[in-house]
Amino acid sequence: MEKQKFYITTPIYYPSDKLHIGHTYCTVATDAMARYKRLTGCDVLFLTGTDEHGQKIEDKAKAAGKTPKEFLDNIVEGPQGILDLWKLMNISNDRFIRTTDDYHVAAIQKIFRKMYDNGDIYKGKYVGKYCKPCESFWTESQLKDGCCPDCGRPCVDAEEEAYFFRMSKYADRLMKHIEEHPEFIQPESRKNEMVNNFLKPGLQDLCVSRTSFSWGIPVDFDPGHVVYVWLDALTNYITFCGYDPDGNHDEHYKKFWPADVHLIGKDIIRFHTIYWPIFLMALGEPLPKQVFGHPWLLVGDGKMSKSLGNVIYADDLVRLFGVDAVRYYVLHEMPFANDGVLSYELICERINSDLANVLGNLVNRTIAMTKKYFGGIVPAPTAPEALDDELKAVALGLPAAVEKKMDTLHVADAIDEVFALLRRSNKYIDETMPWALAKDMDANGGRLAHVMYNLLETTRICGVLLTPF
Ligand code: MSP
Repeated sequence: MEKQKFYITTPIYYPSDKLHIGHTYCTVATDAMARYKRLTGCDVLFLTGTDEHGQKIEDKAKAAGKTPKEFLDNIVEGPQGILDLWKLMNISNDRFIRTTDDYHVAAIQKIFRKMYDNGDIYKGKYVGKYCKPCESFWTESQLKDGCCPDCGRPCVDAEEEAYFFRMSKYADRLMKHIEEHPEFIQPESRKNEMVNNFLKPGLQDLCVSRTSFSWGIPVDFDPGHVVYVWLDALTNYITFCGYDPDGNHDEHYKKFWPADVHLIGKDIIRFHTIYWPIFLMALGEPLPKQVFGHPWLLVGDGKMSKSLGNVIYADDLVRLFGVDAVRYYVLHEMPFANDGVLSYELICERINSDLANVLGNLVNRTIAMTKKYFGGIVPAPTAPEALDDELKAVALGLPAAVEKKMDTLHVADAIDEVFALLRRSNKYIDETMPWALAKDMDANGGRLAHVMYNLLETTRICGVLLTPF
């Protein structure tokens, strides 16, 4: 039987600064999903990468006295760069795309031309407001208190000759798709936000080229214009595996597209659920099956920011706590829809209560007793008792319980399911008291063997189901 395919992506990160634990969370969560799907027998493609064009990168490189490419190479591939970070975090991505890769640049130029030739892109004049950090254009009416509705920073007046994409042409089709596919935007609250705040008020045509800076993919038939960074970035999900605008796609593309899940942060849902599907409609390609906008990881009760000096980096945490503990913390402490909180104190608490008291304690006691009573050999189970039934039921039901949570991206809840069995197993030790049975091996040796077998088996099941995390 052919394996079921599963294609999952992270956002491609801006390599303008060192990535922090919030970015790391997003990649670790995607990694957990990818590993889980591999465990269940799927043929998985897990893609991550970097979004390397745009004015911010150009400015940063200039300030560092480097060319943009030199600046980027160092952040992406240099010591303690992004590739090193993913290695440190045990990220199992199959591919890594950089938007400065040749094949991506060539594909974007073809895509832009195709959209232009089809009449989806036209040349016009942009007059309005511009948010430099977000590289987003806004109309006056979209501003919030005169500032960028995404990041709240001030916008400046802007006027330039530019190419526009006819968003409105596809709005009805997109609305219909969203209505007919309730799983497309998750969690549901984010779907309502997109429909009510963006689709219902009507879509404006989108400015998809820039002339104010040069660090981007040039529009090949109109030098001086570079492709808008979000058109360049979103398209990474198809260019990396051989999407060809002329229809001669790679086998890889035919096999894996459409993506099963784009896992992204809540701040970039609009780009992924409005612009991206519309670009795909214009290209005549199928839409991704699901876009999941995860909440944010906060420090204290607020955002991490360099200016507040509260940015936490994954490598510092790993040095203190070890990679598995850090992965466990971010995956377990991030709720499905509300923001999660991170602090050194909270990590210590979690390690002590969950990893040491529940998991460590069970494994340690089980292994130590197996060594002591059976020389480290797994004994045969020959003396079941009614007392075992509940433990057995929880254990046998665990794979399905975890699957149900993972299939709806409730990663923290999936971990809770495993911990419920670990806790139940600790309770089983208290109920069966193996040390008391061991006092009379002639009378109780068979039963002790069965108890140890059950404990080893639940530990094994939990161990396997914890590997993705
Ligand atoms: N380059 C774009 C994405 C293009 S995808 C085609 C971008 N990059 S980013 O580096 O700014 O952000 C990448 C991801 O990190 C986003 O999904 C964002 O939500 C996430 N996070 C940034 N800070 C975060 C937290 N504090 N917590 C969780 N995720 C956070 O946007």
